[in-house]
Amino acid sequence: MTNLAIAANGLRKSYGDKVVLDGVDLTVPEGTIFSLLGPNGAGKTTTVQILSTLTRADGGTVQVAGHDLARRPDDVRGAIGVTGQYSAVDKLLTGEENLLLMADLKHLPRGEGRRKAAELLERFDLVEAGRKPAGTYSGGMQRRLDLAMTLVGDPRLIFLDEPTTGLDPRSRRSMWQIVRELVADGVTIFLTTQYLEEADELADRIALLDHGRLIAEGTAEELKRLIPGGHIELTFADAHLLDAARRLLGTGVADPEALTLQLPSDGSVRAIRELLSLLDEHSVDPTEMNVHTPDLDDVFLTLTGQQKETLR
Ligand SMILES: Nc1ncnc2c1ncn2[C@@H]1O[C@H](COP(=O)(O)OP(=O)(O)O)[C@@H](O)[C@H]1O
Ligand SMILES: [Mg+2]
Repeated sequence: MTNLAIAANGLRKSYGDKVVLDGVDLTVPEGTIFSLLGPNGAGKTTTVQILSTLTRADGGTVQVAGHDLARRPDDVRGAIGVTGQYSAVDKLLTGEENLLLMADLKHLPRGEGRRKAAELLERFDLVEAGRKPAGTYSGGMQRRLDLAMTLVGDPRLIFLDEPTTGLDPRSRRSMWQIVRELVADGVTIFLTTQYLEEADELADRIALLDHGRLIAEGTAEELKRLIPGGHIELTFADAHLLDAARRLLGTGVADPEALTLQLPSDGSVRAIRELLSLLDEHSVDPTEMNVHTPDLDDVFLTLTGQQKETLR
């Protein structure tokens, strides 16, 4: 049996009459990336704050890194690292000074603190920048420094609250690479994001949070399977070929104007190969083929009925 980094049951939290978390259950096995995905205001940061001991839940039970959150918050704190939505970086200090300050807070001996700081600056490509005030850094560099500071204490479980929101695509990819390396080292990651692509790219398991409730949970593939909508669209050179294909395949929706035939399909390589070889055997060759596999966008839209725009 795998050990659980996080086991939360029936988490509830309200601010005044506003219910923010309405009975959330979470299980995160050690050494995996779990992504809590949801739009602004869904309750992601509140969840991270509760799991990382910064805020108290109104109800529910939580074990983090094997410790009971309510009874042993100090043990939990000692096992985790948190990189918040808002940077913990002191912009007046240099990158190196920020790291040394963190090493002091973690009570590392001086020499070890310096070694650790140097190693992290190297690893996060901040050696040059390490001598300059963090206020002069780009957004991506500040996020990297922020995460480096979290790693000073060698946490086995890291909470990353929207680590790439507002970053340009290149900085986002470099953050993804860093996250992958951490997991390769056996670290567990609890990642919140508004980006479906990010969860799809990184997470072993994804939970969709909407208005304080989990509306779905599973691997990206499992979530995509929750919704229909995969199809293949074939375009033909003339109406004669379109008709021949329609009769040969015995299924699909033909559009005689556009000369297309739309077929339900999971879009797998095997399904495409079978389809094309059947057409080929009968010399009914399409001029074009488009495959639409449902993505997490489709899942979220189907399950929440929200407009795509509001998710971005
Ligand atoms: N300290 C607080 N006091 C009052 N309301 C809060 C507080 N923190 C969060 N909220 C509310 O709880 C809801 C969820 O917030 P949050 O957890 O920050 O969502 P997310 O991180 O998913 O954007 C929002 O409606 C927010 O306004
Ligand atoms: Mg948030």
